[in-house]
Amino acid sequence: MTVTIVGAQLGDEGKGGIVDVFGESADVVARYQGGDNAGHTVVHGGETYKLSLVPSGAVRGKVGVLGNGCVVNPATLFDELDDLHEQGLDPDVRVAERAHVIMPYHRILDNLEEDVRSDDDLKVGTTGRGIGPTYEDKAGRRGVRVGDLLDAEVLRDRLEYVIPQKRRLIEEVYEIDLDAVDLAFDGFTAAEAFDTDAVLEQYRAYGERLDEEGMTVVAGEFLADSIDDGEQVMLEGAQGTLLDIDHGNFPYVTSSNPTAGYAATGSGLGVTTVGDGEVVGVVKGYLSRVGTGPMPTELGPSEGGHGVDAGEQSAATGSDPTPEDLASYIREEGGEYGTVTGRPRRVGWLDLPMLRHAARASGFTGFAVNHVDVLAGLETVKVGDSYELDGEKIETIPSTTERWADCEPTFRSFDGWPEADWSAVAAEGYEALPENARTYLEYVAEQIDTPLYAVGLGPEREQTVVLEHPFE
Ligand code: GDP
Ligand code: IMO
Ligand code: MG
Repeated sequence: MTVTIVGAQLGDEGKGGIVDVFGESADVVARYQGGDNAGHTVVHGGETYKLSLVPSGAVRGKVGVLGNGCVVNPATLFDELDDLHEQGLDPDVRVAERAHVIMPYHRILDNLEEDVRSDDDLKVGTTGRGIGPTYEDKAGRRGVRVGDLLDAEVLRDRLEYVIPQKRRLIEEVYEIDLDAVDLAFDGFTAAEAFDTDAVLEQYRAYGERLDEEGMTVVAGEFLADSIDDGEQVMLEGAQGTLLDIDHGNFPYVTSSNPTAGYAATGSGLGVTTVGDGEVVGVVKGYLSRVGTGPMPTELGPSEGGHGVDAGEQSAATGSDPTPEDLASYIREEGGEYGTVTGRPRRVGWLDLPMLRHAARASGFTGFAVNHVDVLAGLETVKVGDSYELDGEKIETIPSTTERWADCEPTFRSFDGWPEADWSAVAAEGYEALPENARTYLEYVAEQIDTPLYAVGLGPEREQTVVLEHPFE
């Protein structure tokens, strides 16, 4: 059977950790969308593994597959595999021949387009990994697929068509002199990224390595065969529902579909196969956001950096904290700082209209709530229960981003719960959780009409309470 893991909010909900917990019973873990814009964390044996492309199951010896719906940067893939080898692991990762390849010019374009958009205040805050431009070329039928890297002639044909077009886009539409662009990615300067021969040579070499290491597969066949052989397949979503290009808050989204429907399209398995399995939504007990876009339940501004002092921290646990106190408390406790830039992430209370939308869009059969430990110590924990928009109460999110930004949340307050030895609580099981935390969790489950499968009380597998295991 399959179990699909989907982010219910804005990414970074702790999907990697949940894949690790439930993936224990899986033989294969496949990604079906996105690329190295993801950052999934697995903590195991005292080591923290940050994976952006390799499926999280690889840390525990599962076969990893990057499905046809992914966009693959071979430079990242090989760097990540080499790093894992250095950490003593020997991951078995296969890549779909139908997956599209992130080329160096995609990364340059992603970054230049963000600059262009920022002039009009339309910056998305992308990860700069070339995700959008690669999916654009896929839809525009001018992309390069992993299978094309295996054939030098086909690769040359593709590049000779696309690179001059991209060069003209930059030079004639954006009116940017490529030689003056001070950006370099994956060993290519901006000018080299648009040099057909230089790109051909490096990407041909990547193709040879993929081929020599027997890494390329027809993902759908590979996964269907695994299922026919009685194996368990986990489908690991990246990003989150509100970053979905169809169901998210466009245009502040990524360029793929993290929601569960794409688990079929992006893996090559039939919808009936995916639908016969389980779909588990992953929820962070509050909200965090790294990019631009509305966030009705946001708490305070996200200025400043690390180093909130103890006084400010304790203000949040008092009886009348300001939104800013609460934001900095949650940010510090949850380590909500960008992994690359160290920038503080925006934080807010849990948003139920968002979760109702996510549960419907993906058809969650169960859900997990992480970071319940992070909220400990607060006197009151709130959830955005519904919104008020134009004097009316609404329970899900409106379809336009501008209307969503106009929504005023109505909050429900819960009594907080104290700090605890979370590993000990997790070892004892759900009933050992503080009663107020259970009240909060059960309210969320009731509101989204979905059973609670797991509760995260810390980053490690042993700090997660499992109420129901989707593979069992
Ligand atoms: P993903 O992108 O959804 O896989 O999530 P990330 O790995 O980007 O971010 C989640 C962060 O929170 C990681 O540092 C995890 O190790 C950590 N984490 C996951 N679950 C929990 C939890 O229940 N409690 C705490 N305190 N941290 C968690
Ligand atoms: P994981 O899988 C959080 C955000 C970016 C930006 C928008 C578009 O770790 O949850 P992109 O580079 O994809 O074109 O950027 O999406 N974003 C994420 N935010 N977690 C992620 O992945 C993200 N992947 C992309 O910050 O707002
Ligand atoms: Mg992440």
